[in-house]
Amino acid sequence: MSATARNILVTSALPYANGPLHLGHMLEQVQTDIWVRFQNSRGNQCLYVCADDAHGTAIMLAAEKLGITPEQHIDAIRQLHMKDSADFLIDFANFHSTHSDENRRWSEEIYNRLHSNGHIQRKEITQAFDPVKSLFLADRFIKGTCPRCKTPDQYGDNCENCGATYTPADLIDPVSAISGATPIDKASEHFFFRLEDFEDMLREWIDSGSLQPQVANKLREWTDAGLQSWDISRDAPYFGFEIPGQPDKYFYVWLDAPIGYIASFENYCKREDHPFDPYWLPGGDTELYHFIGKDIINFHGLFWPAMLHSAGLRTPTAVYAHGFLTVNGTKMSKSRGTFINAATYLEHLDAEYLRYYFAAKLGNSVDDIDLNLEDFVQRVNADVVGKVVNIASRCAGFLRKGFDNRLAADCSEPEMVQAFIDAGENIASLYEGREYNKAIREIMALADRANQYIDEHKPWVLAKEAGREAEVHAVCSVGINLFRVLITYLKPVLPAMAKKAEAFLNCSVDWTQLEAPLLDHELATFKPLMTRIEGKQVEAMVEASKAAAPAEEAPANAAAPAKKSDKAEPSETIEFADFAKVDLRIAKIVKAEDVEGADKLLRLTVDLGDQQRQILAGVKSAYSAQDLEGRLTVVVANLAPRKMRFGVSEGMMLAAGPGGEELFLLSPDSGAEPGMPVK
Ligand code: MSP
Ligand code: ZN
Repeated sequence: MSATARNILVTSALPYANGPLHLGHMLEQVQTDIWVRFQNSRGNQCLYVCADDAHGTAIMLAAEKLGITPEQHIDAIRQLHMKDSADFLIDFANFHSTHSDENRRWSEEIYNRLHSNGHIQRKEITQAFDPVKSLFLADRFIKGTCPRCKTPDQYGDNCENCGATYTPADLIDPVSAISGATPIDKASEHFFFRLEDFEDMLREWIDSGSLQPQVANKLREWTDAGLQSWDISRDAPYFGFEIPGQPDKYFYVWLDAPIGYIASFENYCKREDHPFDPYWLPGGDTELYHFIGKDIINFHGLFWPAMLHSAGLRTPTAVYAHGFLTVNGTKMSKSRGTFINAATYLEHLDAEYLRYYFAAKLGNSVDDIDLNLEDFVQRVNADVVGKVVNIASRCAGFLRKGFDNRLAADCSEPEMVQAFIDAGENIASLYEGREYNKAIREIMALADRANQYIDEHKPWVLAKEAGREAEVHAVCSVGINLFRVLITYLKPVLPAMAKKAEAFLNCSVDWTQLEAPLLDHELATFKPLMTRIEGKQVEAMVEASKAAAPAEEAPANAAAPAKKSDKAEPSETIEFADFAKVDLRIAKIVKAEDVEGADKLLRLTVDLGDQQRQILAGVKSAYSAQDLEGRLTVVVANLAPRKMRFGVSEGMMLAAGPGGEELFLLSPDSGAEPGMPVK
């Protein structure tokens, strides 16, 4: 335990108020919430604020379509967002809106400071304009025929069909996606923030160690390419804040969005009578962290620190970027039912299942995180229910029946209990460094040890033998003490389950209280802490997601810069040595059969030359069993066997395409033989 408590302010990115939260948003909020709860469990004072990002053209147009005012629209969405987050057990100190008085005042104030420091510049620029709607059109609101492949109805600056990138001016027969009118070119005056004035400051910030290496590299690339001034104004009509003294000119949504962090915190401080200045003025003894997705690194890594610096405010202690959520290995997709809204998930499954799974997968890099739905069921059931809850449920019954729910007065295994407690410092540093996946691995290794201990001492056997009551008491008391330590470590991830465990243990569990075992302590009667996930709950969720009309995918990023090049997506490269570890082999499918109860799987027996293996392959939507028998294909031969609901799969076949019906099995040219290595 650190001697002095830290005062920490944490944010996650402000979701756009134009659609429901989906599991990608929840990945971010869960990552942040775990960190915040961890800090508080360690005795620090950590506050988590967030808000809805309420401004921009997309929100204005969405409200118009619904026939309501933008204010009504963003209020309704904010209620939904707050409910979804609360149901995912996200512990916000405050969830505000960027369309608030605090945010208006801070946006004006910061803008005025940038302006008086000489960092705001005016320039006339020419843009596409919709003459019917009287609206300037961002690239994504213009569509037309691709100049390269001639596919009609392509949006903005790239073609979905051939992948060509261009400016909207290159489109053949461009039209406004809003009114259908042909856009005209129109000039207007814009306000720019001179980012180039901050090159030295930003280089120092990038090198300061406040950023992950991948993020710092990306930012260095941009800085090396030459910083450009940033267009921070938009012309009316726009839903946002008017620029002081500049009628019909509005702050671009991304100017006031991060200021929303300050506004939300100020709103909290006023309500709770909490100090504000030490958190935002330089020199305060506080820490400030922003958790964000990798697509918005430029805003948080360049514009935001430069703005803060110029306005005389503190810069963040660190910015922590995470990767994107994929589901079953690919981008979330509506047609496959893997574009899952937070609310849809919650109709079918418990929030803590996903909190646990995310924790088990999240590291501290910007790599994407995959939610594999089969692995999800298997992992949560095996770890949380099968390992952790099992410890308590195995011991509780004996303690209730034989010992009035009272733990033994002495600890028969003080060293083991102490070893569990001592493991806490390493686990704490893993949480601190956002290596939740490693923390979970450590915790589960301890859970395995606890179960092993109970297995070896077999209280269920001892309980049947006369004169061995004291041993039963001792073993079960140790088991419960080990369980208590594990729950302490899992509490940031599983707060609701920890609460139930606290009721059972009849004491609160926190890192700060983990000094000695509970002795001669009375427990409450044990109640089930978590039930297993049933595969059919997941199937029902996927079906419901297919049926639901989720937030349109494009507008989810609508207020972000339209140019792809503005977005940071450090792609992961691997060393040749890593690639060489993959043992690819030609295999012959000697047998293919349906799997009872699984509508997507085929059970394949493949011949690898010197051996046969069973592979459970999710290819049934594209191939029938007969199609496959006798075919040669390519498999990953050294994939660790995976236990799935329908049996063990001992390898993986390679196929191309997005999945579903569009799946194309790879096969070698004729002449290849089963077992041949693929290089
Ligand atoms: N409104 C801006 C953020 C302003 S912060 C001052 C925004 N909103 S968003 O709704 O598009 O995204 C909110 C957060 O969710 C971002 O950090 C974004 O990276 C994250 N995610 C959105 N989709 C995601 C996934 N599929 N996976 C993981 N995170 C994702 O950007
Ligand atoms: Zn094209």
